[in-house]
Amino acid sequence: MSFDNAIKALSVDALRFVKDDYVVGLGSGRAATTFVKTLSKFVKTKNFSIRCVPTSTQIKLVAEEGNLPLIETDQVEHIDVVFDGADQIDKNKFLIKGGGGALLRENILMSLAKKVVIIADKTKFVNNFNRSVPVEVHPLARNIVKKNVTKIGGESVLRSLDRGYPFVTENGNIILDCNFGEIKNPKSLQQKILQIPGVLEVGIFTKKPDVIYKAKTNGKFDVLT
Ligand code: A5P
Repeated sequence: MSFDNAIKALSVDALRFVKDDYVVGLGSGRAATTFVKTLSKFVKTKNFSIRCVPTSTQIKLVAEEGNLPLIETDQVEHIDVVFDGADQIDKNKFLIKGGGGALLRENILMSLAKKVVIIADKTKFVNNFNRSVPVEVHPLARNIVKKNVTKIGGESVLRSLDRGYPFVTENGNIILDCNFGEIKNPKSLQQKILQIPGVLEVGIFTKKPDVIYKAKTNGKFDVLT
């Protein structure tokens, strides 16, 4: 089932959150890519002077291609609005992030953002989280984090590339994808994982987005606020 048309349509709608002179955070992944392409055209037409902060090289390349002016996270004190995708969204509007490995920068951007806009197709919406949680870990802490994840009831798998090489984040770390089954108390689990030495970021985000776009079939979408 393709949600491409809906994501294109909602990306046009989401442009209403972008104003001239804004600092705009760019998330990573497919939904963010569609939005950034739409944003590039819009900025050219409107002649807006915005600055964009990318969360990964993946989205930076898309923004460069669209001639969007780029700036790094440490050069801004706030972000007016950030647009990002999500791997799962639960009934509390908490998010699982990090399917693409950009969770650390995504979380930094969201914490700096005055407004957070999330774009996801309807398959990502669940009552309770039931997929693995990406956890960014210092490479030297791999075993200790693995053991501690087991102690709190999870099973972790080192994320790796097709030929078996470990996936390395843009921050030089590894990702453990941690399966806890159905997650009934995401805030408590997030805190438990964050307390493990060597854990640098957890892909459970509990800052609620301001706007969530839910892409449906046939080019339709819902806006949840
Ligand atoms: C990147 O690390 C992720 O958090 C993405 O935002 C997430 O995986 C959603 O990506 P898609 O829009 O490609 O599904």
